[in-house]
Amino acid sequence: MKILVTGGCGFIGSHTVVELLNQNFEVVIVDNFYNSQKDVVDKIKEITKKDFKFYEDDCCDEAAMRKIFSENKIDAVIHFAGYKAVGESVAKPLMYYQNNLDSTLILAKVMKEFGCHKIVFSSSATVYGDPASLPIKEDFPLSTTNPYGTTKLFIERILKDLAYADKDLGVVLLRYFNPIGAHESGLIGENPNDIPNNLMPYIMKVAIKELPQVNVFGNDYDTKDGTGVRDYIHVVDLALGHIKAIEKIKDETGVLVYNLGTGKGTSVLELIETFAEVNHVDVPYQITERRPGDIAACYADATKAKEELGWEATKNLEDMCKDAYHFVKRVKNL
Ligand code: WQD
Repeated sequence: MKILVTGGCGFIGSHTVVELLNQNFEVVIVDNFYNSQKDVVDKIKEITKKDFKFYEDDCCDEAAMRKIFSENKIDAVIHFAGYKAVGESVAKPLMYYQNNLDSTLILAKVMKEFGCHKIVFSSSATVYGDPASLPIKEDFPLSTTNPYGTTKLFIERILKDLAYADKDLGVVLLRYFNPIGAHESGLIGENPNDIPNNLMPYIMKVAIKELPQVNVFGNDYDTKDGTGVRDYIHVVDLALGHIKAIEKIKDETGVLVYNLGTGKGTSVLELIETFAEVNHVDVPYQITERRPGDIAACYADATKAKEELGWEATKNLEDMCKDAYHFVKRVKNL
């Protein structure tokens, strides 16, 4: 099968391309490097010793997307491309709605024109909003509290409507929890250029002394130690979930929805302490005010993916912390 991976040089996209190539899928990447680095193309080839086609284009560019599909017989698409910073989306909603929705609408239009009927979409647990209970199941109510999350919800709705109208279409919606870690080679990982929004990249920058300390956003939540609880999942486990989704949808139609999480909740302080312990580094922190919009706790019920995809996360928190630190040390030549 030939798979088009939009955003294939990004954090989750690049790890998914590695696993696709490892399993002998043919891969075509389209990425505009808005939120990724150009050298990832060569890093993927170095890891896999495999080649693939690459297009430096924007998924909002209909002519570019039509060229990709005219030059390659695409059997399925994994759609990662999109802006993903929650805070930025609150400040720049129009940019988020235009980019994330237009890119998806153009992709869906060109897919239909070229007879490509399979898509795996990079959704997010953020579509569940603040869950009334835990763990979260796929049939929980959906609600969002920021434009980024709302674009994910809208795209899920768009893909469901397209599948209702076109009985040949097969859609898998993968709702990620909190992806962290890096490939064991240390060649690819999460490497934000500016001050990180997310916890793990922030911990990594404190560990290598680029930042002085972690600001723990509140310790007065109703959780095990008062700090926020999340379901951290190794990015390689997440990538493997996409392979299982492609294998599932290649012979099916309609819409399938799966949580990709570990089913375990970890607090901010637990993650900081685990990272420091397994990597033998100091990770200073201070308790600060809550971050507006944060929820207390969020973790998955991942049994549906296990039962229907034959997938479950296998790597633990220690693996995630070791691989993340190995990557950041390589990137910084430490
Ligand atoms: C995790 C916990 C914070 C930073 C977001 C998106 C979600 C997905 C993953 C894209 C929370 C606390 C954080 C810091 C802290 N992204 N924290 N100090 O908010 O769970 O999810 O990223 O799909 O859609 O919503 O991830 O890493 O930002 O926060 O104390 O400097 O760490 O309060 O409890 P989050 P996060």
